[in-house]
Amino acid sequence: MSDSQIQSQWERVGGEAAVKAVLDRFYEGVLEEPQLAGFFDNVAVDDIKPHLAEVLKVVLGGPDARTDIDLAEYLTEAHSDLGVSESDYSLTGQVLMDTLKEFDVPADIVETIAGALATVQPFVVAV
Ligand code: HEM
Repeated sequence: MSDSQIQSQWERVGGEAAVKAVLDRFYEGVLEEPQLAGFFDNVAVDDIKPHLAEVLKVVLGGPDARTDIDLAEYLTEAHSDLGVSESDYSLTGQVLMDTLKEFDVPADIVETIAGALATVQPFVVAV
């Protein structure tokens, strides 16, 4: 791609392969946190990763990003039985931010993801 073409944030972060590597590391970090690990005791984390990658593709404007996902509905449905607290959520967000830093993800992309984290919080955290 030439310099004059505008790349999406998804492409600039390195596309599918880079996102997969980030998510692998992210879930490692989550499972290292005693406060969070229990949520995933009976869950195949490898099954969640592609779904989270799909969500990130929407957030970062990847090619062929799904346009049919209602994030509010989808994330509420996925987390409604889990009882995720605000503290669990912010720790998860911290692990994600640390992971993005580890991968030297550009600041504007970190900002986009931080914004998305704030937006979807009400759908994940149990009231
Ligand atoms: C940052 C915001 C979050 C996003 C975007 C997100 C996204 C997702 C997605 C896409 C799935 C897969 C749903 C499916 O398979 O159809 C999922 C499942 C899950 N998430 Fe999250 N998640 C978030 C935060 C959290 C937090 C904070 C926790 C707990 C600490 C959590 C725990 C889980 C668990 C345990 C599942 C598996 C549920 C099951 O299969 O029964 N998530 N999440």
